[in-house]
Amino acid sequence: MISQKEYTKRRKKFAKKLENNSVAVLYSAKYKTRSNDTEYPFRQESNFYYLSGFREDNAALLFVKSKGSTKTILFVQKKDEALELWSGKRVGEIQAKTIFDVDAVYTSDMFIQKLPEFLKGKNTLYFDFASKDERINSLKDNAKTIASHKDIMSLIGYMRLIKSPAEIMMIQDALEITKKAHHKVMQLKKTGKKEYELQAEIEYIFKKNGAYSDAYTSIVACANAANTLHYVENAAPLLDGALILIDAGCEFEYYASDITRTIPVNGKFSQAQKELYEMVLDVQVRIIEMIKPKIKRSELQKKAVELLSKGMHDLGILKGSLKKNINKEKYKKYYPHGIGHWMGLDVHDQCPYKYENGDEIPLMSGMVLTIEPGIYIDKDDKKVPKKYRGIGIRIEDDILVTKNGYENLSREIYKSVKEIENC
Ligand code: GLY
Ligand code: MN
Ligand code: MN
Repeated sequence: MISQKEYTKRRKKFAKKLENNSVAVLYSAKYKTRSNDTEYPFRQESNFYYLSGFREDNAALLFVKSKGSTKTILFVQKKDEALELWSGKRVGEIQAKTIFDVDAVYTSDMFIQKLPEFLKGKNTLYFDFASKDERINSLKDNAKTIASHKDIMSLIGYMRLIKSPAEIMMIQDALEITKKAHHKVMQLKKTGKKEYELQAEIEYIFKKNGAYSDAYTSIVACANAANTLHYVENAAPLLDGALILIDAGCEFEYYASDITRTIPVNGKFSQAQKELYEMVLDVQVRIIEMIKPKIKRSELQKKAVELLSKGMHDLGILKGSLKKNINKEKYKKYYPHGIGHWMGLDVHDQCPYKYENGDEIPLMSGMVLTIEPGIYIDKDDKKVPKKYRGIGIRIEDDILVTKNGYENLSREIYKSVKEIENC
């Protein structure tokens, strides 16, 4: 768990970054309708959660800064016995004041009434520019006297880039559960089952171990389906002799894990599958080994392109000169995505890749990113040796950048041919 002390520390750090005479407003998430009278499971908005640790809807967090000092104000739903009968207990304003170390707590129905008091004499309003929440429009309408608007993300994104020891522990907890799920399906007899049966096994293990949700929609893609990058139908039969690409990770206490393994349905790689798999694995391991502070993600990307292109060249998948295949981006047909992304509260963590001046942000100790090279060869691609057609492989791990290098947080999840075949 993240302690209240840590949330307080985050708010202090955030407040320091705010301009003097400013107000910053963060809103909680809202319930989203799934279909008539039913809703998607509620999931708190990540930035709001990062600074508050508060899990209810219909809430807001304000930072009001003047004369160099900042007051933090939390708006929470009023206690309401009748409504709590339907949707569960609310913390309420009295308890919230004792749990959350903020300067004041009000009920959400007071928000519009209290707002002018906080906005008075302020020059800058911070909010999330990317948010589509209609409360932002209402906020802007109510703050017409403030001409300068600034994006909250430009402040909070940098904070979220560097994970605290407690955050790293949460990611490790998520990965411990995700490991169990991937190992379980590696060990299962799979031939004749359907993709969704493996999905069910995986998500059962997530839930059984206390992971509230998956961090993203699980991909369980057998054979040629693995070549559709966002395949989520997960309904086809598992064919003897084929590979299954499984990209699945749980979210535990709001922290993501993001793991892909590609395994044989019948437990044994064919010679051709093994050739491709070991090529991708070798690239993945070599890219992970490059990770250390100061190196840039673009350098990892460039190296991945070089190594995958060389690997494809050696296997007869790409023909002609290696240099030309790289310069003319011929590899993109088979490796069309990036080498990885930041991970944390969001699986694709909402953190910047560049500084405001456009320079790329290099890796720093405390960052967490995925490394996920892949190769995808369509079953009808006549340009590729027949034995490789219809194979899609991705291998993805979650890596912590440390002071002197890296720690592969998912290193225990089997990935060598030997480990997968003998598990
Ligand atoms: N599972 C999403 C991704 O790998 O980026
Ligand atoms: Mn990923
Ligand atoms: Mn993934």
